[in-house]
Amino acid sequence: MKVDVLLGLQWGDEGKGKVVDVLTPRYDIVARFQGGPNAGHTLEFEGQKYVLRSIPSGIFQHGQTNIIGNGVVLDPVLFRQEAEELAKSGFDITKTLKISKKAHLIMPTHRLLDAANERAKGGAKIGTTGKGIGPTYTDKVSRNGLRIGDILNNFETRYAEARKRHVAMLASLGAGTDGLDELEKNWLDAVDFLRKFDLIDSEHYINHALDNGKSILCEGAQGTMLDVDFGSYPFVTSSNTICAGACTGLGVAPGRIGEVFGIFKAYCTRVGAGPFPTELFDETGKRIRDLGHEYGAVTGRERRCGWIDLVALKYAIMLNGVTQLIMMKSDVLDGFDQIRACTAYEINGETVTEFPYSVDGIDIKPVYATLPGWKTDMTQFRSEEQFPKEFSDYIKFLEKELGTPITIVSIGPDREQTIIRNR
Ligand code: GDP
Ligand code: IMO
Ligand code: MG
Repeated sequence: MKVDVLLGLQWGDEGKGKVVDVLTPRYDIVARFQGGPNAGHTLEFEGQKYVLRSIPSGIFQHGQTNIIGNGVVLDPVLFRQEAEELAKSGFDITKTLKISKKAHLIMPTHRLLDAANERAKGGAKIGTTGKGIGPTYTDKVSRNGLRIGDILNNFETRYAEARKRHVAMLASLGAGTDGLDELEKNWLDAVDFLRKFDLIDSEHYINHALDNGKSILCEGAQGTMLDVDFGSYPFVTSSNTICAGACTGLGVAPGRIGEVFGIFKAYCTRVGAGPFPTELFDETGKRIRDLGHEYGAVTGRERRCGWIDLVALKYAIMLNGVTQLIMMKSDVLDGFDQIRACTAYEINGETVTEFPYSVDGIDIKPVYATLPGWKTDMTQFRSEEQFPKEFSDYIKFLEKELGTPITIVSIGPDREQTIIRNR
């Protein structure tokens, strides 16, 4: 068996959570491979809304196994909160969720360091989610991290050593440790809560499952343009969000990757600082934000909005080997007279169609194709046969530009508002 991978192609918040939930009935196992509680996925079904951060989005379906993989960084406090909220809503995840022993722990001091690093950057700050993501991955790569498996063995000593190192780092950044004792107490309680879960060697579990004919969906967080290697560095997150991240974040060999589902919005958003070539600062940008409710699920921050960027999308499709595209939030554009799509960048008078080394601090003029809007409320549609001609033409235009089929179209936030296209 092969694993399928589902990931974001833009700057995150494409609607990954919703689609993972929709696709889960096709799989036996759903596994998150990177990121942490910087992710925020909103899912809607049966009139209820749920927000997930660290727990895979396959948790709501028919009792499939969900796995938090080794590539993930986990904050026990936020994890406990999330699990308890799910339990209140009637979803007991203690039987269906497994956690990799090799996943790294986000400590309270990682969050303090995240804030201190941002302060030290001043005007050049990244606008992180403040969840301690960067410092935790830094500790992982510098071989100082604490892993989930460590809670089973001599944990207090390891924790105290890491804490001491972090406090010294905070002091060197001129940051204090106010409130740390209280945070720590809560954190240690939450670490205990983790013991309720099946803590596993997930690379063995996953490969045995594949050998035994089980199907697996790997769930990405963030998006390709936030990838630490290929995103708009340094305005990126600290993990590999691309398809290769599923290999390192779960222990899946490259040859075992099957379908790669790439998700994008019919427009573009970004939250936090960093370059965004098609960003709109006008009424249209505001209209997209209002209609699309473009406010972050984790931080409540306004998302910056703009037209779809096909230069960046082609780059993302190439990096991930996307085999199927999924277009989200097309309903947000239902009332627009015209739709624009950026097909190239004009940089210093030259037309560029390959995503350049950097798009930061240079004057980029997007070159747009303009297409007629469909001016139809599609939110109650149930099949692609109902699509207006202008919308079908828009899909054809994108498929031709991107060289990849669009197999799913999302026309609203609810699970039901999803159209699987005939192939
Ligand atoms: P994720 O992080 O990729 O899972 O995406 P988020 O959940 O952060 O952001 C997507 C937002 O759009 C959520 O509030 C979803 O409920 C909502 N959403 C998802 N698909 C659609 C859609 O097709 N139309 C509309 N209007 N909203 C959608
Ligand atoms: P989901 O999974 C959108 C952004 C932050 C910031 C940068 C670095 O919901 O799509 P970090 O806290 O990771 O160090 O922040 O990355 N960012 C996201 N933007 N969606 C996300 O996740 C994001 N996770 C991080 O805003 O610009
Ligand atoms: Mg999100």
